[in-house]
Parts: sequence; C-alpha cells; structure tokens
Amino acid sequence: MFALQYSEQGPPEVLTVGEADEPHAGPGEIRIAVRAVGVTPADWKLRSGGLPVEARLDWPHIPGFDASGVVDEVGEGVDGVAVGDAVFGVVDTGAFGGAAAEFAVLVAWAAKPDALSWEEAAGAAGNVETATRALRLLDIGEGKTLLIEGAAGGVGTMAIQLAAARGATVIGTARVANHAFLAGLGATPTTYGPGLGERVAALAPGRVHAVLDAAGSGSLPDLVALAGDPQRVVSVADIGAHEHGVHLTWMRSGDAPGHEGLAVAARLAAEGRFRVPLHEVFPLADAAKAHELSAAGHVRGKIVLTVP
Ligand SMILES: NC(=O)c1ccc[n+]([C@@H]2O[C@H](COP(=O)([O-])OP(=O)(O)OC[C@H]3O[C@@H](n4cnc5c(N)ncnc54)[C@H](OP(=O)(O)O)[C@@H]3O)[C@@H](O)[C@H]2O)c1
Repeated sequence: MFALQYSEQGPPEVLTVGEADEPHAGPGEIRIAVRAVGVTPADWKLRSGGLPVEARLDWPHIPGFDASGVVDEVGEGVDGVAVGDAVFGVVDTGAFGGAAAEFAVLVAWAAKPDALSWEEAAGAAGNVETATRALRLLDIGEGKTLLIEGAAGGVGTMAIQLAAARGATVIGTARVANHAFLAGLGATPTTYGPGLGERVAALAPGRVHAVLDAAGSGSLPDLVALAGDPQRVVSVADIGAHEHGVHLTWMRSGDAPGHEGLAVAARLAAEGRFRVPLHEVFPLADAAKAHELSAAGHVRGKIVLTVP
C-alpha cells in the first residue's frame, strides 16, 4: 500500500508518500480503505521529536490518529459492521499513528452519517474521543457551566457541541477573530489571557462548574482559581498540570477512552446538531504544509488530508 511516512524525526520535509506494509484487522478491529485522515498537533509533535513523552516509534512511522473510509476487513469478534460500510474512527493510540495510508486499522468507529463528508468525519473522530473522555471526567451534564480554554481548535470545537448537547452552558476562550465562530457552535466567547476571571464572572454570574484546558498555555493557575477547585479542571494539553493539582488526560493516562462519543457525534450530526468546521483540506502529498499550519497554533476547527 502507499502511506505517508517518515524514517527519522525532523522538519516537515521528512514526510514522504511511499510504499509500506499493509496492516490487517486483528480481533475486535476493522480495516478501512482510507478516504480522509485528520491532522492533530500530536502528529507534528511526534514528527519533530517535540512530544514531551517517550514514544517508541517503529520505522518507517505512519502518522495519523483518525480516519474515515470504507470497511474492507472485519476482525474476529466484530459485530454490527460489514465490508463496504462507510465509517469513521480512531487507530490504536499505542502505535502513535497509522491512519495516513491507503489502509488503516481502527480500534473504535461509528457509521459515517450522510450529514458528514469523508473529510469532516475523519477530522472529527479523534477529537470527539478526546472531548468525550474529558467531559466524562468533568461530569458535564444538564445545568452545568463549562469553560473551555482554547475552544476554537479541534478539541474545543468538538467539546463545545458535545457539552451543549448534554445540556451544559459553554463559555469558550479564543482570540477575537474567532468569537463569532465560537458563538456559531453554541459557546459564549471571551478572550484568553489576563483578566479572564473577571470576564468569565461577568458572563457566568453563577458558578463555573468545570474547566477544560485545551490550550496548555500556562493558564492553569487562573483556571483553577476560576473553578475554585483543581479537581474541577481537566487538561488535555498541559504536561505540568499535576503541579497545579490538575489531572492531565491523554493517550496513556489510563483514563477509559471516549469511544462512545463517536456514535453520539454521528447521531447529533444526522440531527443537524453537530458539525465539523474544516480549517483547510490538503491532499496527502501536501502533508508537510498541513503539519506547518497545525504547528502555527491557530487552527480553527480541523485540518484534514484526503487520501487518493
Ligand atoms: N490529551 C489528549 O488526549 C489530546 C488529544 C488531542 C489533542 N491534545 C492536545 O490538546 C491541545 C489542543 O489540541 P487541538 O487539536 O484542539 O489543537 P488545534 O486544533 O491546533 O487548536 C489550537 C487552538 O489553540 C488556540 N490557542 C492558541 N494560543 C492560545 C492561548 N494562549 N490560549 C488559549 N487558546 C489558544 C487557538 O485558537 P486562537 O486562534 O483563537 O488563538 C487554536 O484554535 C494540543 O496541545 C494537543 O496536543 C491532547
């Protein structure tokens, strides 16, 4: 098969499209012929060697944590899905990638609703899992007020909509240029940075019940003060979270994955209550440009690669 790959960590130019061994669906897994794959900050952090955790990569390494496509192998013990079905889902995060290829093995998936394009579905999958995991840890439901720091990116846009669908009120931080965008997704926007506590207090005269840090920008002391208790804050992005008594949830934190969110997002999309804003779509061969854009730090929604 062909795959996006690199054989040593380095700048975006190490990415090439070339031949790679085909994966096969093991027990409990499916294989898809990939139509589109999401790009997430972990892709370029791993590629550059900047992911601040020890990640053992097999060479060549194929990036990509989530994808959409057509099922072409169904592993032992898998029910409810058949060859030819359109799905979207996530790869085994323990492999740190594998989706940006002609074929990819998914460990969790849902039927792709007609309401989402291949690109939108691929872009949603990984961040829906992350957002679902974080919302569960924060116990977000009816009547709660959630603040999302860094709400305009992939995790934030999914978390806003999934939290709103649970009946929560959502306040999201972004630069001013993204405020109308956040409002369109169902969040009350405000800017991040100094004075956040006062701005949020004015927007939410009651209490902020929970805070999701999707920025990792060093604002945790302010976010903890806002929530009133570090246990009401969860970060997906700050590796120093524990220094503030805050839980960092990530692919190896031991938290149960939020795979059930895939079917929830699919249902909400079919009902017209969930959408996937695409910042830009690139062909697989332009993955280096996609990584550069992601690394610039101001993605609005998702960056996606199409697979020919
Ligand atoms: N732990 C996990 O399981 C997990 C999973 C996925 C992602 N992550 C991590 O979570 C973080 C967010 O991922 P993502 O996919 O949402 O990233 P993304 O799509 O690249 O979005 C980043 C967002 O950060 C915002 N931003 C930039 N500077 C900011 C600041 N100082 N304060 C607040 N927001 C700021 C930007 O909005 P503006 O343009 O408005 O500034 C942008 O929308 C990354 O660090 C990623 O590695 C963790």
